[in-house]
Order: sequence, then structure tokens, then C-alpha cells
Amino acid sequence: MGSIQESTGGSNFIFGGLQISQRLSYASIDPLPSPVIILDLTLMSDTTTSPNLNSEAPEATGTRVLLTGATGFLGGRVLRDLAGNHQVFATHHGALEETASYITPVRWEASKGAPEVLLALFEPDVVVHLMALTRTEACAKNPEKARLLNTEVTARLGQAACYRGVRMVFASTDLVFDGAKGNYTEKDEPRPTSTYAQTKREAEQALQQIFRDRPELLTIFRVGLSYGWGDSAHTGPIGWLFHNAESGQPTDLFTDEFRTPLFQGDASRAILEAIEHQHAGLFHLGGPDRVDRYTLGMRIAERFGLDTRLVRKKSIRDYQGPEPRAADCSMVSAKFIETFGWAPVGIEEGLERMREERKGLT
Ligand SMILES: NC(=O)c1ccc[n+]([C@@H]2O[C@H](COP(=O)([O-])OP(=O)(O)OC[C@H]3O[C@@H](n4cnc5c(N)ncnc54)[C@H](OP(=O)(O)O)[C@@H]3O)[C@@H](O)[C@H]2O)c1
Repeated sequence: MGSIQESTGGSNFIFGGLQISQRLSYASIDPLPSPVIILDLTLMSDTTTSPNLNSEAPEATGTRVLLTGATGFLGGRVLRDLAGNHQVFATHHGALEETASYITPVRWEASKGAPEVLLALFEPDVVVHLMALTRTEACAKNPEKARLLNTEVTARLGQAACYRGVRMVFASTDLVFDGAKGNYTEKDEPRPTSTYAQTKREAEQALQQIFRDRPELLTIFRVGLSYGWGDSAHTGPIGWLFHNAESGQPTDLFTDEFRTPLFQGDASRAILEAIEHQHAGLFHLGGPDRVDRYTLGMRIAERFGLDTRLVRKKSIRDYQGPEPRAADCSMVSAKFIETFGWAPVGIEEGLERMREERKGLT
């Protein structure tokens, strides 16, 4: 483990022979993967005592996973599904509701906290990187922030992981394509049309460059538009339909924007299998059904007894947002299916699984 210099402030705990402040400020961490731009280096741990860092604990016998974005729509699901033979260092920004002995919560403001420090402190076997600025309009309004969070932080995590020989699983997006053709394979040339997609594409390229001599350590999923249960702050791209319906608000959905929607549980399963079976490479990860967003919304509304009159048809031609919308980012996931040996479920099956999960939740 590298030595940490110039730490200051806060209450302390001991980890790996290091005295760690509850609130730390680092000037540098040694050895540094090179080249590294040091931002405002702040890392915060939630706990006042050493939080499940003891590698002798029974839960710590399996893989040590650093999961970023653990409060998110996908991250929350992955965090729950990782229960078992894993010790998870779960970064969160807002409050982390999920607690269990296998989880070490790590509060982390990614625009300030050095990603390298996370690897030095927690010495994971795998980094699952799901933290991102995901709202396309927020990215368009603040491209610098989007580039910092989505590209630079990802590249720095990747550098630190590669330097340490740590595997990395990264979630990119179907939106890296311009949507002119649809049915994209991994061989098609990405042409992002939004700041969000551009920053995710740049992150892919940075990681591929960083891991060029260790490709076996890197898994990139281009995740399709995902549906499943999230919390009110992390609904996923279609979940706000439920929230609007509860308050009697209409939801406008595009009839001419096509995707291959992915059940959230399958996204999580793929990530877990990438950790456990070490499948490396770039994979398109979408469901088998190519549908427009309006049709998907209607299926969800019908299945869950929402008022379908509140689901309104819109065209991307009428979209007033700051950047153009890609019409057809449907993907072919044949490479994933062949490598992982199973196929993501279609919409009807996915919605049925959501219904069963809700029964389990209530
Ligand atoms: N869901 C999809 O359909 C989909 C499709 C394609 C690709 N993806 C990719 O999959 C990944 C996860 O997506 P998601 O839907 O789960 O996103 P999400 O619900 O928006 O979650 C994003 C996560 O990033 C964290 N985060 C955001 N800004 C942060 C900051 N400044 N510092 C620290 N943490 C910060 C959030 O924390 P707080 O909310 O607590 O602040 C949250 O945990 C992303 O990389 C996304 O690009 C998702």
C-alpha cells in the first residue's frame, strides 16, 4: 500500500497501519499512478471507528469490491445483489439507506475526492464504477462538471486500478450512438449527440487506452435504457412514470425514440458475473425487444394499473431541450449472450419480475 501524506483533521481510526482521519485532506498519495491531476483531495468516511475494514471478518473472505454510485438506480440494485461472499466499499453522495455487515459506506464527493485514495485505502480486488452525472439535460447545462465526473474521475479510477492490477467494471451507455441506424453492434462507430454521451464515450476511450496492456482487467458494458425499482431520487429513466402517476401528473414519452430496454436485475446480474467470472471486453447489454419509449411506458402503465390516459405521445421532433435526441439507439447484445451464456429478458418477463419484486418489497 502506498503512503499517504499530509492528512489533516477529524476523528481517527486505524487501517492497514495507517492512521486515517474521519475527515481527511490529502496533498498526495504515494506511489501515484502517472500522470495524475490532483483536484481537491477530500475523502470522508461515515464512521468514527474502523468500519468493517478488518479483512479477518467472515464477510470479508470473498472479493473486495469498490462500488461507486451505490445510492444510484443501478448501484442500489448491485449493492443488494452483492450480498454474500463479497465485502463492499460503497461510495455514496446522498444518504445510503442500505446497511449490512458486508457494506462499508464511504461518503465521497467525486468532484473533490481523489479516486486514487479509494483504491489505496480499501485495496479492492474489483472496482465497479457506476458513479456518473446521468441526467442528459444537467450534462448539457454544465459540460465541465459532466466531463469532470463522467470522464476525468473515471480515467483516474482506471489509472489507479490498472496500476494496482485491479479489475474494473464500467457502465457506459447505448447513447454513444447517434441513433441514425439502430441495431448497433460493438463494431459500429460511436457518434454521440449529447454532452452526457460524449463524456461517457470519452471515458470508454480513456479506459481502453489505460488498460491497453492489461485488457483482461477491463469490462465495459454499454447498458441499455434500464427499468426496475429505484428510490424517489433514483427512479431510472422510466421510473418517474410511477411518481407522476401517483400525483396525477401526465408523462410525455416519445413514439419515435427506439431502445432495447434492459431489466435492472439483468444489468446487476451481468455486473456480478463480470466480477465473479472475470469476463473482460466491451459488451452491448440490452434486452431483446426494440421498442419506442411511449410503448414501453404504456406497457408499464398497463401492467401496474396506472392511468394510461396520463401517458402522452410526443415526438422527438417536438423536443425543446438543449441537445438533439438520438432516434434509435437499439443494440444487438449477441456478444454478451455468447460470452455470458444467458440472454437478458424481454419486457413482458422483466415487468413480471418487477411485479414479483414489489410483492417481496411490500
Ligand atoms: N439506468 C440506465 O438506464 C443506464 C443506462 C445506460 C448507462 N447507465 C450508466 O450506469 C451508471 C449508473 O446509472 P444510474 O441509472 O444508476 O444513475 P443514477 O441513478 O443517476 O446514480 C448515479 C450515482 O452517482 C452518484 N453521484 C452523482 N454525482 C456524484 C458526485 N458528484 N459525487 C459522488 N457521487 C455522485 C449518485 O449519488 P447521489 O445520487 O447519492 O448523489 C448516484 O449514486 C451510470 O454510469 C450511467 O451512465 C445507466
